[in-house]
Amino acid sequence: MTRLHDDVRLAGAYQSGNGMPESSLRAWAKLIGSFAPCPAPAVVEIGAGTGMFCAALARWQRASPVVGIDPSVPMLEQARRHNALPGVHYLVGSAEALPVRTRSFDLALLSRVVHHLPDRPSCARELARVLRPGGVVVIRTTFRERLDALVYDYWPQLRAIDEQRFPGKEEVLADFTPAGFTVREAGSFAQPVTTGLRAFHQRMRNRPLSKFAYLTEAEFEAGLRCLGTDAESEPLTAPWPVHERYDLLVLTLA
Ligand SMILES: C[S@@+](CC[C@H](N)C(=O)[O-])C[C@H]1O[C@@H](n2cnc3c(N)ncnc32)[C@H](O)[C@@H]1O
Repeated sequence: MTRLHDDVRLAGAYQSGNGMPESSLRAWAKLIGSFAPCPAPAVVEIGAGTGMFCAALARWQRASPVVGIDPSVPMLEQARRHNALPGVHYLVGSAEALPVRTRSFDLALLSRVVHHLPDRPSCARELARVLRPGGVVVIRTTFRERLDALVYDYWPQLRAIDEQRFPGKEEVLADFTPAGFTVREAGSFAQPVTTGLRAFHQRMRNRPLSKFAYLTEAEFEAGLRCLGTDAESEPLTAPWPVHERYDLLVLTLA
């Protein structure tokens, strides 16, 4: 299996296959920005991927500067190509050794990344170093106890796999509290990611999710066929928008 960090195919597919309508991205940026301790916050995104949230926070929340950090060079190439804006910078680095100065950010975002981190306590200590006092961490994920994405309907094998990969909320808290973080808020939020099931099917054909690497070719194709059949029955004039729900855990640094 190609290492996630080196996977050029996944980086290209991720950019086109993980977008969302502008209204959804705006709504996410507004919600994430609402937790910032000050206007025009300095933001660091850990595991920024192709930079969708970095650009959204700069554009709609006046965040400045915004630094997106990711160990994957192919992901950051996509970020620089598709989500470059003045004041947005992308740096190669990992959550456990952030290549940025101490006390330089107001808000840190970890979107769909906690399950990738090999050492969450180190990440928490690094975030405590780079945030200013009163700084905020927003964790956007799906906790193990609430895995509920549409992909599990078509690829049910992925549920057991993700139960192994994704941490529970209490585990994440146990990793972050020793570094000085306390819970400010916990909740969840859902937005449409595609306008309909046909569009969702088209998107999945390119295997835009790293979790598909855990399936055999036959398993992937079988799920895609079922999704295609359901998509065919979607009325052309009244598509069924696909929503994705994420848990949010908002932590404050004392
Ligand atoms: C599913 S993508 C999320 C991208 C973006 N945050 C989003 O929500 O669209 C996960 C990202 O985490 C990155 N990643 C993996 N291990 C990491 C680590 N140790 N530190 C920081 N980022 C990491 C991957 O390279 C990948 O770009």
